[in-house]
Amino acid sequence: MWKLVLGLLFLGQFVYGQDVKKEAFKILESKCNDCHRIEKKESIFSLENMDMYARKINRQVFIFKIMPKGDEVKLSDKEKASLKTWIRWVKDQK
Ligand code: HEC
Repeated sequence: MWKLVLGLLFLGQFVYGQDVKKEAFKILESKCNDCHRIEKKESIFSLENMDMYARKINRQVFIFKIMPKGDEVKLSDKEKASLKTWIRWVKDQK
């Protein structure tokens, strides 16, 4: 029985993680990648590499507040919250 419970918890955590990640990716794709494709080609975010960038994104967006660079692209409070939720989830995986 406890194996089933653990299994369900694990599955729940996995499904939750995928949702959180997809939501964050939509933001990275729409607010960050357009510019990075032109100005910062080495760091174009994808579903494959984004977890690896979570730490750097946290630093650039929330600690030093350098990204999104310039005045044109802004993140709404909701988008910031989604990114934070995803960053926290990535940290919890380790
Ligand atoms: C208008 C252009 C522009 C936008 C928009 C932008 N960036 Fe950047 N980003 C850059 C440039 C250029 C650099 C290279 C460092 C610098 O010039 O500050 C960079 C560097 C970074 C780095 C460091 C990458 C590394 O490999 O070390 C991260 C992380 C980052 N950006 C995250 C983001 C995130 C997250 C967003 C969206 C919320 C974003 N950026 C939006 C232009 C942009």
